[in-house]
Amino acid sequence: MSSVRINNLNLAYTDTGAGHPVVLIHGYPFNRSLWTEQIGPLSNGHRIIAPDLRGFGDSDASPDTSTMNRLAADVAELMDHLEVPRATIGGLSMGGYVALAFYKQFPSRVRALVLADTRAQADTEEAKQTRAQQAEKALSEGMAGLADAMLPKLLTPETVSKRPEIVKFVRDMMLQTKPEGAAAALRGMAEREDHTELLPKISVPTLILVGSEDAITPVVDSKQMHEAIGSSTLVVLDHAGHVSNVERARQFNDALLHFLSQS
Ligand code: MLT
Repeated sequence: MSSVRINNLNLAYTDTGAGHPVVLIHGYPFNRSLWTEQIGPLSNGHRIIAPDLRGFGDSDASPDTSTMNRLAADVAELMDHLEVPRATIGGLSMGGYVALAFYKQFPSRVRALVLADTRAQADTEEAKQTRAQQAEKALSEGMAGLADAMLPKLLTPETVSKRPEIVKFVRDMMLQTKPEGAAAALRGMAEREDHTELLPKISVPTLILVGSEDAITPVVDSKQMHEAIGSSTLVVLDHAGHVSNVERARQFNDALLHFLSQS
């Protein structure tokens, strides 16, 4: 594991392979091991950089709210440290919120975008209240209750009943998350800005991926992004839920590799 000190926090990351750099940003409440199935196939021909965002995985947590802009700035500083001026920036779900915030702040550093199982809209008032309750719950009770409540929304019913190794992998990742890191990110997601207006301004090649059964950021959200981003391609992965890169890793990788070969 590699790590770097950024803004008084140790941030862990994977940096492997050689070639055009691709930054992969995990979702909530996961860590860089979310990309395990991608890193092998993609690093054969690309430099894959996968950070643990602050508060997740092996990175330190900060008591401050982890705004999407702050997380994006952490990624930019990691790229500075690695001497990577420009990269393909990809993210799943919260990682997609961070990727859009990154594009807004540092458009010249983005060669292409990958938006997986994510959306451009901000939270509704109801969603913000739920986040506040979940942040309190994470801090008072730990991650187990949140993880168990989230699992059926993350995976298809078929995966839950027939693929126990995936259920365990995703649950274990959530249990490794520090409650204070989860709470900081929940507050950050609740206050994130709406990026709908940004979409038509995106001029780089953009791959939008979504599981056909994504219950958290459904296909309709990806279709809206696809309609608004002129330079985008939409790929719907059948038999996949919210963590489509884990549930349908081969199809996800095929689409991503094809996109990277053309962008
Ligand atoms: C994620 O997977 O990153 C989260 O479910 C996103 C969200 O809660 O909005």
